[in-house]
Amino acid sequence: MAEENAPTVTETATKAPLSTIGSIGQHEGQTVTLHGWLYNLRESGKLLFPIFRDGTGTIQGIVPKASVTPEVFETVKGLTQESSVIVTGKVRADKRAPGGYELDVENVEVLQRVPEDAPYPISLKEHGTDFLMEHRHLWLRTPRQAAILRVRAEIIKAARDFLDDNGFILTDPPILTPAACEGTSTLFPVEYFGDEAYLTQSGQLYIESTALALGKVYSFGPTFRAEKSKTRRHLTEFWMVEPEWAFATLDDLMGLAENFISFIVDRVLTRRAAEMKTIGRDVTKLEAIKPPFPRLRYDEAVAMLNDAHAKGLLEAPFEYGNDFGSPDETYISSQFDRPVMVHRYPAAVKAFYMEPDPNEPKYALCVDVLAPEGYGEVIGGSQRIASYELLKKRIEEHQLPIDAFQWYLDLRRYGSVPHSGFGMGVERAVAWICGLDHVRETIPFARTLNRIYP
Ligand code: 4AD
Ligand code: MG
Repeated sequence: MAEENAPTVTETATKAPLSTIGSIGQHEGQTVTLHGWLYNLRESGKLLFPIFRDGTGTIQGIVPKASVTPEVFETVKGLTQESSVIVTGKVRADKRAPGGYELDVENVEVLQRVPEDAPYPISLKEHGTDFLMEHRHLWLRTPRQAAILRVRAEIIKAARDFLDDNGFILTDPPILTPAACEGTSTLFPVEYFGDEAYLTQSGQLYIESTALALGKVYSFGPTFRAEKSKTRRHLTEFWMVEPEWAFATLDDLMGLAENFISFIVDRVLTRRAAEMKTIGRDVTKLEAIKPPFPRLRYDEAVAMLNDAHAKGLLEAPFEYGNDFGSPDETYISSQFDRPVMVHRYPAAVKAFYMEPDPNEPKYALCVDVLAPEGYGEVIGGSQRIASYELLKKRIEEHQLPIDAFQWYLDLRRYGSVPHSGFGMGVERAVAWICGLDHVRETIPFARTLNRIYP
């Protein structure tokens, strides 16, 4: 290996203050040091135009042969894509530059030069998604992918801040569980010292317990579904944020959901405008996201679908009593400019723990929040069954192992109260807010039916 391939930080031009590309505007007119990688290199006679990236942005450097030492010129000229570098140069404002600044390069120190005969696999030309997913560990370096991860982090921070500031206490449920929460068909089994355990599908049952202990709580963690579905909305491992609220009704829950989502969207718009631009998201649609959100009974949504089918706008007729499929959700949500809250589904299609509407028990006191622009369900929640007798009956009807639920039934034996909660899938929220057509780009390493590498 050539000596320059040894990645050690030696005597760099450490006299110049260290900056990031994202904050380089604070150093206009000064010489700064950047830690980064070569993103691209253009040559035009005696001028070199290296573009550097450092994870906070990209900046074009200018290297005129006449103004640097021959060594520096040759070093830059020989740089290969994704070689790691320490660059010093003078910051110059330039209105035409995408980030508003360019760098008059003075020196470049190479930490590791990517060899010409084994170049970085992701070139700047188009690649297929399969190829990119196979190289996900490198694809993340692309500015658009990095911007998506920054927005994801902002969404997570906003969700936590909203709940923290509204009196919800973080309580972490277990990941290893003895029983199902969201149906037995999507459980991931784990061998647990000779017994069968499962990766959690949702923290809900456990945070019902902490809600009855603390009042208002939430969980934020990874959840798992052995989904056999190959859709653009399903992952087998995803992150869910779940508030749970003692004494809250379905109405309270819907109010919480619309404020929660509006807060998150507003945060992203104010704090991540640059990233949204990099992603190419049209933010005007997001600016409309303010409470109140439209509320629609399941029956009203079905009427809407039947009407659309009659007019030839929807291919398949909707069968009353089913859960909505993707085309149904897309159609319903496309009728509104903000998320729509569909409530009171037939109890028969929903989870075992949902409280029936006391006025019409065939309906569950539940809500699904469908995102606009066809992004489908981002939130699912409900009021929970408070009656011991009814909950026990439902567990039996769903043929769930009653022994594994004795602790859960205790919550109805000792001081049962009405209580409600929902779960928001982080990846669904990121896909919608960033305007991505598949959830696989919303998480650093997506786990799907067909992929567990890298
Ligand atoms: O609607 P779900 O299944 O509801 C629950 O798990 C409840 N126990 C939550 C609660 O009331 N505390 O899932 C909640 C949300 C969905 O609305 C969706 O955003 C997301 O989790 N989700 C998925 N995201 C990606 N891939 C999957 N396979 C998902 N399944 C659900
Ligand atoms: Mg759901």
